[in-house]
Amino acid sequence: MIEIKKLKKEFNNRWITKGVDLVIPAHQMTVIIGRSGEGKSVLLKQIIGLIKPTSGNIIIDGKDITLLHKHKCEEVFRKVGYVFQFAALLDSLNVYENVGITLIENGVPHDNVLRIVKEKLALVNLKQDILYKYPSELSGGMKKRVGLARTLVTSPEIILYDEPTTGLDPITVRIIHELMFDMQKKLNLTSVVISHDIEIFKFADNVALLQDGQIKFFGDSKTIWESTNPYIYQFIRGLPEGPIKNEVQED
Ligand SMILES: Nc1ncnc2c1ncn2[C@@H]1O[C@H](COP(=O)(O)OP(=O)(O)O)[C@@H](O)[C@H]1O
Ligand SMILES: [Mg+2]
Repeated sequence: MIEIKKLKKEFNNRWITKGVDLVIPAHQMTVIIGRSGEGKSVLLKQIIGLIKPTSGNIIIDGKDITLLHKHKCEEVFRKVGYVFQFAALLDSLNVYENVGITLIENGVPHDNVLRIVKEKLALVNLKQDILYKYPSELSGGMKKRVGLARTLVTSPEIILYDEPTTGLDPITVRIIHELMFDMQKKLNLTSVVISHDIEIFKFADNVALLQDGQIKFFGDSKTIWESTNPYIYQFIRGLPEGPIKNEVQED
């Protein structure tokens, strides 16, 4: 479980996170939605320790990372995988090297790296014949899978995804969502996904809406289309902000 309390963040006197309170349940998939520039990535980066909050608390599995010493934080972050926006593979490395890079850099013996890389590729439904291919030889969807396999190498319990499907065609979006769902179930993960693809609601458990620097809604993603919460109603239908108009017009 990730518990966020009264979280605030300012950059140069501009408040981006304005008091976020959010409980992200363990072993479920929670989607964070919100307009571009709302501070979704900034929120995720605070959870993973890439950005230091101005104030507030972030408690991951009972450990408050805003109070812990650096090396204790690193222990917590070892459980967390992060798939960042536009996650790119290194073009000069093959799939084996891209997926295994952290293991190779840490001096893990080749046979072990190969075993782990093969295992993670299988988890993202990739065949081993791509092991020695280069990113330029792979489709967009395959590259995303390889990126996911790379995140899985450290066996995270929590995965944070920042817009994992941006820039993909609708069919590939569906395939990646199914894969995320599949991994979620197989590995019993806690997944947090920033996404603009409302199709993900089908696979997720919860939706949180970030608006004006705060979580304005948290609820069940399966019943999201029936929600009468005004923020959610307008956001998921792409309606401009302001009072809800009566949508059903009879002729
Ligand atoms: N390191 C930073 N320094 C200053 N401003 C930042 C920094 N990171 C993000 N911001 C600002 O915070 C706002 C929210 O950014 P971001 O979290 O990336 O939005 P999004 O919801 O689209 O992911 C933007 O106005 C951005 O310019
Ligand atoms: Mg972002």
